[in-house]
Amino acid sequence: MNTLITYQVEDNLALIGLARPPVNALGQPLRAAVLDAAERAAADSQVKAVVIHGANGLFSAGADISEFGGDASFAAPDLPGLLLRLTRLDKPLVAAIGKLALGGGLELALACGYRIGEPGTRVGLPEINLGLLPGAGGTQRLPRLIGAKPALDMMLSGVQVGAESALAQGMLDRLSASAETLLDEARAYARELVTGEAPARPAPPFPEPAKGLPEDFLARFREENEPRWKSRLAPRLVLSAVEAACLLPLEEGLAREVALFKHAEASRQSEALRHVFFAEREAGKVPGIDPSTVPRPIGKVAVIGAGTMGGGISMNFANAGIPVTLLERQGEALDRGLAQIRHNYGISVKRGKLTETQLEQRMALLTGSLDYADLADVDLVIEAVFEKMEIKQEVFRTLDRVCKPGAILATNTSSLDVDQIAAVTARPQDVIGLHFFSPANVMRLLEVVRGRKTAPDVLATTLKMGRTLGKMPVVSGVCFGFIGNRMLEPYVREAHRLVLEGATPDQVDGVLTGLDLNMGVFSMLDLAGIDVNFLVRDSNRAAFAHDDSYCRLGDELYALGRHGQKTGRGFYAYEGRNRQDDYEVVALAERLAGELHLPRRRIDDAEIHDRCLFMLINEGIQLLDEGIALRASDIDLVWINGYGFPSHLGGPMHYAEHLGLDKVLTGIRHYRQALGDYGEMWFTPAPLLERLVAAGKQRIEPI
Ligand code: CAA
Repeated sequence: MNTLITYQVEDNLALIGLARPPVNALGQPLRAAVLDAAERAAADSQVKAVVIHGANGLFSAGADISEFGGDASFAAPDLPGLLLRLTRLDKPLVAAIGKLALGGGLELALACGYRIGEPGTRVGLPEINLGLLPGAGGTQRLPRLIGAKPALDMMLSGVQVGAESALAQGMLDRLSASAETLLDEARAYARELVTGEAPARPAPPFPEPAKGLPEDFLARFREENEPRWKSRLAPRLVLSAVEAACLLPLEEGLAREVALFKHAEASRQSEALRHVFFAEREAGKVPGIDPSTVPRPIGKVAVIGAGTMGGGISMNFANAGIPVTLLERQGEALDRGLAQIRHNYGISVKRGKLTETQLEQRMALLTGSLDYADLADVDLVIEAVFEKMEIKQEVFRTLDRVCKPGAILATNTSSLDVDQIAAVTARPQDVIGLHFFSPANVMRLLEVVRGRKTAPDVLATTLKMGRTLGKMPVVSGVCFGFIGNRMLEPYVREAHRLVLEGATPDQVDGVLTGLDLNMGVFSMLDLAGIDVNFLVRDSNRAAFAHDDSYCRLGDELYALGRHGQKTGRGFYAYEGRNRQDDYEVVALAERLAGELHLPRRRIDDAEIHDRCLFMLINEGIQLLDEGIALRASDIDLVWINGYGFPSHLGGPMHYAEHLGLDKVLTGIRHYRQALGDYGEMWFTPAPLLERLVAAGKQRIEPI
């Protein structure tokens, strides 16, 4: 008896139920079981039609991602072969799609001649997020079902399409009245097909998927979209596969798809993106916290401070339907904050992402207040006031007085010691850091800072809540800057120093964006504000500034009032959003280098890469060694979701593993020696990096 599927014959129908929890991933054992069942149904003359369904409701989330990159991925029966066999059965197949059909799951459904979903069904081809393309016929069968353009959009975006829209587009033929009746309605559908002597497969609506599109449609599409794709491989391969669907007969197209899929699967980008997929799931598992820990209920939230950060944080909750009390000290600041939130929602309405009604619904969830007494019954408070210890401690003393027992008290500090903040309360176990990134309603990263005394259920609650808000929560221990900003510091320092030594801001940024980072260091500082960066640096100068050149260029620009984009000048000069190199910055760097007796020279791109990236990586490894980060993959998630590090490089730790840890260590040692006193001061290899290389390890892990 095979436990991966259920198989029943009812009158003239065979029912094949996929039963591989949690998501019916189509790994080799399940594929073999499905093939076995399909052959049984094919051979049974009593069976006139077949229904394939998820035995536990959910249909399938696609191929088993953990098989990719190994022999199991194409081990017989491989998915394309299995699905081809299904298309050749001479009996109608009905896919009864409960909850989800993603990737290979949707391809399985497309191999069936008929598809019925339930009202909440979602279908999609999200392979692009894994650096892949649909590899089991999706790139060939979907364009023939819905046309080349919508199929291309679906594959390139990876979006999940809801039931109604899937029905309208023809991906579903029917919708059941409810999830509970799906299987019964699928049975009835199959019987109708038998009675009506329907063909095993209906003819595809778009046998020539590009018919009706301009002749140069695909070429134009490529030209328009390539700049956005940067160096990503998968979108280009998707396009090639769709091109094949438009030009080749089905069989040849299918063969081309397999070749393209194998190319993608073997790529470093896909390997990195698969790492990110599993990293995201790992991040929710915290050693020492029992998965059965019961989270505290979060029904009502308060945010203190109606500035940009507080406003953005509040919007997250309103978006999730959770009421928020927004507290300010002055009525004027409160009004300004609420008006800004309305304005932000208004932009979404203009862009068609929100309706007026939704805007009003969200605003109705926000209540302004000037009185701490209004916070007496909230379940969670997030403080987002000025970044100064005394001010934050004063807020927490007050919260300790007014909040009900068991309320979670969170600080949105980006660098301050959460334990010192917790210490002013009589309930440090309820205090935690929730570090949102600006703009807080957009950025996906949420650093969850666990204080020394933070209770396990407080951590579990905030992790769960973060996911409810659509964030990527990552746990960090307490240290200056937590994971993200602490790693940012040496990276920014090195970029500054390189400009003093002879590089230009544009050259440094160009090397980083050449790696597909969203922004280089200097564009980022100009956007965030040179003043903001200066103030953080200035308040911690004693801890970092051991040499006179330390971020000197940034200090001087601050003194000159060149605060970045908002003043029209920073490391670059701006006309609107257009950035230009500014010779004054080069002249300033030359002058400062002279004062510091730094010889200027031509700096090559490789040196920029190694100095900026190796310092970033080194700090990450040190954080892991200190236990601030729980695992290397958590660090990757912080940099991908908070700092624009390309996910197709897998994050800085994964990138280091790809470069080779020995190469990183050799590079750091090289610059330690080559850069004289400066090198001696800053280029100290993290002891864990040295231990890993000495032990011949390829992966970054605590040892
Ligand atoms: N393969 C292997 N494992 C998978 C998986 C898959 N396709 N989809 C989910 N899982 C695993 C997760 O790793 C997780 O495992 P752990 O509990 O051990 O961490 C478990 O299933 C539950 O997943 P989530 O925690 O993500 O649960 P969720 O309810 O939040 O989300 C989901 C469910 C929407 C299906 C989400 O997991 C998801 O998006 N999965 C990936 C879907 C996908 O990309 N499919 C395409 C695969 S590639 C393909 O099919 C290629 C092809 O053309 C042949």
